[in-house]
Amino acid sequence: MSNRLAQNLPGEATRLIQRFQSRAACVAVIGLGYVGLPLVCRLAEAGLRTIGLDIDRQKVAFLAQGNSYLSTVPRERVANGLAKGLVMSSDYARVRDADAIIVCVPTPLTPAREPDLQYVIGTLQSLLPHLRKGQLLSLESTTYPGTTEEVLRPRIEAAGLRVGHDFFLVFSPEREDPGNAQYATHNIPKVCGGSTPACLAVGVALYSTAIDTVVQVSSTRVAEMTKLLENVHRAVNIGLVNEMKVIADRMGMDIHEVIRAAATKPFGFVPYYPGPGLGGHCIPIDPFYLTWKAREYGVNTRFIELAGEINRAMPEWVVGKIAAALNERGKPIKGSRMLVLGIAYKKNVDDVRESPAAAIMELLRARGALLSYSDPHVPRFPKMREHHFDLESVALSAATLSAQDCVILVTDHDRFDFELIAAQSRLLVDTRGRYAAGTRNVVPA
Ligand SMILES: NC(=O)c1ccc[n+]([C@@H]2O[C@H](COP(=O)([O-])OP(=O)(O)OC[C@H]3O[C@@H](n4cnc5c(N)ncnc54)[C@H](O)[C@@H]3O)[C@@H](O)[C@H]2O)c1
Repeated sequence: MSNRLAQNLPGEATRLIQRFQSRAACVAVIGLGYVGLPLVCRLAEAGLRTIGLDIDRQKVAFLAQGNSYLSTVPRERVANGLAKGLVMSSDYARVRDADAIIVCVPTPLTPAREPDLQYVIGTLQSLLPHLRKGQLLSLESTTYPGTTEEVLRPRIEAAGLRVGHDFFLVFSPEREDPGNAQYATHNIPKVCGGSTPACLAVGVALYSTAIDTVVQVSSTRVAEMTKLLENVHRAVNIGLVNEMKVIADRMGMDIHEVIRAAATKPFGFVPYYPGPGLGGHCIPIDPFYLTWKAREYGVNTRFIELAGEINRAMPEWVVGKIAAALNERGKPIKGSRMLVLGIAYKKNVDDVRESPAAAIMELLRARGALLSYSDPHVPRFPKMREHHFDLESVALSAATLSAQDCVILVTDHDRFDFELIAAQSRLLVDTRGRYAAGTRNVVPA
């Protein structure tokens, strides 16, 4: 920090920055999910005192025994955190001891596809009685531009705290990519925007303790919008390549050959890959946070809507390909035995949130298919808000595969035996371009 900037900072800010730099500070992370759990472990590894807080008491008790319920966070990391003093708790009163509080709770959509901030507001309401002067609050949950200033700040100030003077507020979007072997919490650059310059200075000091690169932006709204641009960028490009897939299919071309050839261009082209539809907590949901907010400004988010429409149509398109392939073999969907390979929303993870596999299975079940699934990461079909299947994952064997009328590859986990699958399936519908065009019995979808 430059001397000039340090001189202009309120005393509480300077004191907090020094506490982070000397590692004397304590940080509470609220919401121990895919984002919060690896983050709190990372902060503990960086030498800070840490508290992991979640309203799910069962989860807290499980974690407090040195276990992990996420395949992407090894239990050793949790156990190491505990050994370094990490405290797991459901008691909000604990945050009084914290110098910084980081909020990583869900931000889903309502059934009408509008922002559902109930978890963010609920968390803040629970926090308010325990907040005090000399603390930093950072929101990491993905949300629309203006949430920090319009939803959080007025509530904090109504409690008598002065943001930028004796209390500090930042937005720092989460960029976790569960299952990514190359990038983990510490080496993914962290964007941070403050409510005031002093807030930003305090926020940067916090994240610099545990993350290699902190990228400063001019406001919390820019930080919120940055995350949305990243996710809209993916949603739109995946929508585009899914549309190209449908066109290439009609024209009798292999879209994957086209993408491979285009990707040889050394500039100006970034390959995206088509699939059975969008999944996960972020890409299918976050862009609609912006759509909702943009309406307030009289702006329509046409790219977002169009990409959403195309991507949401993919499960139906895949089912159309299955129906056509079965028809070629003189069979209807009704009464056909079908095995879905991979129900997680992306490869090598156990997360099924918004997975297109569930949408495909719903459509097939409605048409009378006899369904089963195999997923080495998801032993039992979990309870989902919109879908219910009373199924357990079946082990893959020559006998299981050859007993099916149709095998559908939805998520191409590395743990699948792809040779066995191709050798034993009478009809294999491949939604991931895993098999070369023209492979016997394989239909691309
Ligand atoms: N999962 C990802 O890969 C990812 C990536 C980027 C951004 N995000 C964003 O990060 C945020 C969190 O996502 P996640 O995937 O970690 O969610 P998650 O569902 O895995 O975890 C959220 C946790 O918050 C807890 N919780 C809910 N309300 C609470 C409350 N009032 N007090 C305390 N705990 C509470 C839940 O019990 C749960 O353990 C979302 O805004 C999401 O969009 C997620």
